[in-house]
Amino acid sequence: MQTQRLRIAIQKKGRLAKECQELLKRCGVKINYTGERLVVHAENMPIDLLLVRDDDIPGLIMDGVVDLGVIGENELEEVRLERIKLGEPSQYQLLRRLDFGGCRLSIALDKDQSYNGPQDLANQRIATTYPNILKAYMDKQGVSFSTCMLNGSVEVAPRAGLADAICDLVSTGATLEANGLKEAEVIFRSKAVLIQREGSFSEEKTALIERLLTRMQGVIQAKE
Ligand code: PRP
Ligand code: ZN
Ligand code: MG
Repeated sequence: MQTQRLRIAIQKKGRLAKECQELLKRCGVKINYTGERLVVHAENMPIDLLLVRDDDIPGLIMDGVVDLGVIGENELEEVRLERIKLGEPSQYQLLRRLDFGGCRLSIALDKDQSYNGPQDLANQRIATTYPNILKAYMDKQGVSFSTCMLNGSVEVAPRAGLADAICDLVSTGATLEANGLKEAEVIFRSKAVLIQREGSFSEEKTALIERLLTRMQGVIQAKE
């Protein structure tokens, strides 16, 4: 299934999509994004872009289905922990951290509730999309808890009586504010990263990746 063209998976839409497209453009990769295609071909380089849900990107890399991917470290770590649990492949190589997609994964609770540390979360139910990262953190603190798995609208869970607290991504804090929640504990800090699958690459692909990395270095430095 190895194709000659370098396959890069990026988020189709969402917080990383625009900046991924911009980064590739600045690296000189010409792509026409119009239309609703899953795969788009670069016009001037042997590169195919896969436009997918961000949640799918770590698995595509770990299964060796695509060569490179851009993904938030939070999503990457959550999938890695899940795959270790399931005994599925969980390897990847970090090529570089990028300068966008910054956010943090935090535990938040009702703003009127007192909070003096992780022990206050003992035996609470916490709604989250990131059960594995949350569990790793709580295990380290030695605090037991239960989860309420939600893929969206996590911030509504306390008000809806589904959970006592939440563990969700925070960037500006506007979502917490709008839902009467306060940030109690930051458990993971995340940025977008460029990752590569394990295994060997053709000489052509290796050279192309080198070239992309050099250009990326220039693009990121120019912004600093
Ligand atoms: C995340 C998170 C919050 C919001 C926080 O959602 O789930 O809803 O961003 O950002 P803020 O602190 O700037 O308000 P995202 O935009 O990733 O969408 P999703 O919840 O639909 O996955
Ligand atoms: Zn997602
Ligand atoms: Mg959200």
